[in-house]
Amino acid sequence: MIIEKKSKISPKGLFISFEGPEGSGKTTQMALLKKYFESRARNCVVTREPGGTEVGENLRKIVKYHTGNEPIYDETEVLLFAASRAQHVRNLIIPAMKNGSIVLCDRFMDSTTAYQGYARKLNLEFINELNRFACCGCIPDMTILLDINPKTGFERTKDRPSESKSSDRIEAESLEFHKLVREAFIKIAADNPERIKTVSAENARELIHFQIVELVNNAFGPF
Ligand SMILES: Nc1ncnc2c1ncn2[C@@H]1O[C@H](COP(=O)(O)OP(=O)(O)OP(=O)(O)O)[C@@H](O)[C@H]1O
Ligand SMILES: [Mg+2]
Repeated sequence: MIIEKKSKISPKGLFISFEGPEGSGKTTQMALLKKYFESRARNCVVTREPGGTEVGENLRKIVKYHTGNEPIYDETEVLLFAASRAQHVRNLIIPAMKNGSIVLCDRFMDSTTAYQGYARKLNLEFINELNRFACCGCIPDMTILLDINPKTGFERTKDRPSESKSSDRIEAESLEFHKLVREAFIKIAADNPERIKTVSAENARELIHFQIVELVNNAFGPF
């Protein structure tokens, strides 16, 4: 959804974000949903945060894989995520939606609220304002929250090849931190019942996919 007074956006463009703890199956479900849309001749763009643009992918390297003695402060971290989002929305998401594409985004503004707001305990009002500033009115039409016990999520990811040789700074946080993140997502979903749909990620892949297809068709279909 793009909130603009004189919108020139094709009504067919759709923006769906996927949220949830590490290992909840976001990448898996996005790939299945992309296949589903493409089988129905819909153009579908899969992207991620932080990242999705050249600038965003550079920021991703810093925010996730920075090593060395110099710490990344929580305040710096939240601004890096916001910078990636600002670039992503303007350079990729809005143009894709203007073309009538369906954009599937792996993490978006709710991750900032959950990780940097609730789990890192930065000021939530500021984070909401920062999200508004970065998104410039481009908020997801639907957000799928894949809910999972973080322990189960981590067990699923432990054999997976890492994106980088150095470990992911945020993934490496304590289990307590990730429990806070899960609780935060549940709270954010309760606060946004129209937009955010929660699906249990502990079921089989095919069942989760079926539930997501149903949610999307009920809201925007038939596809
Ligand atoms: N429903 C499921 N049941 C069991 N295993 C699953 C399920 N969905 C995905 N997996 C497996 O769990 C692992 C994590 O899945 P995936 O990479 O899709 O999660 P993710 O949410 O994208 O993780 P991350 O937050 O680390 O990017 C993968 O090895 C995947 O094959
Ligand atoms: Mg993933």
